[in-house]
Amino acid sequence: MDQKLRWGLLGAGHISREFARDLPFARTGELAAIGSRSLAGAERFAAEFPGCRAHGSYATLLADPAIDAVYIGTPHPLHAELTVAAVRAGKHVLCEKPFAMNAAEAEGVFREAERSGCFVMEAFKDRCLPLLDAVIAALPRLGTLGVIETSFGFAVPFDPASRLFAPELGGGAILDVGGYAMEMARRLAGAAAGRTFLEPETLRGVVNRSPVTGTDVTATALLRFPGGVQAILGCSVVTRLANQIRLNGDAGALIWPDPWLRARAGRLEARLVRPDGSAETITAETDRPIFALEADVAGEAIAAGHREADAMSWADTLGNMRALDAWQACDAD
Ligand SMILES: NC(=O)c1ccc[n+]([C@@H]2O[C@H](COP(=O)([O-])OP(=O)(O)OC[C@H]3O[C@@H](n4cnc5c(N)ncnc54)[C@H](OP(=O)(O)O)[C@@H]3O)[C@@H](O)[C@H]2O)c1
Repeated sequence: MDQKLRWGLLGAGHISREFARDLPFARTGELAAIGSRSLAGAERFAAEFPGCRAHGSYATLLADPAIDAVYIGTPHPLHAELTVAAVRAGKHVLCEKPFAMNAAEAEGVFREAERSGCFVMEAFKDRCLPLLDAVIAALPRLGTLGVIETSFGFAVPFDPASRLFAPELGGGAILDVGGYAMEMARRLAGAAAGRTFLEPETLRGVVNRSPVTGTDVTATALLRFPGGVQAILGCSVVTRLANQIRLNGDAGALIWPDPWLRARAGRLEARLVRPDGSAETITAETDRPIFALEADVAGEAIAAGHREADAMSWADTLGNMRALDAWQACDAD
């Protein structure tokens, strides 16, 4: 690539900082600017990252001709409208998860993306890890895959004003972390069937809601995929869960601990355990920190003229959003 992709970040919060810290390790892109609701917020952020320009509104960043691609790091309810605004401004988009508040909203965004010609990807960083490829390559050694277990849950003190609980900020465990448990279950059930992903044919769930905010705080789900593979999913913002992926087959089990941790460069490991108790380690080397890998997945696809990334296609995002809609509706009756 002759010139590096010039990234503009929307929202000067926690995850944009993490993305900005990793971006210098990316091969295809560089940090060019931050857009914040306030100029002071943008300037504070820019001061931490040499060469980063400050925009005091999202609109001025989107109008900046020296930006090629935007990373959206705002609370979920802004994801859809900012992605639409970005592609209308001719910017490629890497949007934090969840891509939208629901599948209908996501469909509308992809219609705009289709018209625009821009690249768009939902930022599921775990999809960019080389260890995922190694885990998928090891699947045949588990024999017939029976049950996938995925969970992502942590405990934070209840705060009705925080984005994890406030309905107007998209609060809820399913949208915040249940999406990971779902996208990995779909991805790995798909891989076992020789596909990129599969959609569940059955989904039953249990959802606990905060009596104060009404948002879901802990949720579990049981899925069955075409062909019979089942999945047990958990997510929570008030209880720490196992935070792992476990793939159970008739010839062995594969345990991937902490698949959603903020991976640095280095070796990541999963463990394959056979029924006789013998075990082996599945490893993959990661040469860049996780958000640099993710930025390069987007950067390489954009350089190749693609509109979507193999790591997280539009159909994959839509399927995941539909499954999350179904999970959220489980306590409706
Ligand atoms: N991939 C990951 O590992 C990961 C991890 C954590 C979060 N996330 C995702 O990233 C997104 C942001 O999460 P975060 O933890 O970074 O949140 P955060 O620290 O609260 O930052 C969000 C930023 O969005 C902007 N914003 C715009 N409207 C806002 C509003 N009404 N209230 C609050 N902030 C508003 C603010 O920046 P300005 O004031 O500068 O505009 C704020 O700093 C979420 O969608 C979450 O799912 C992803």
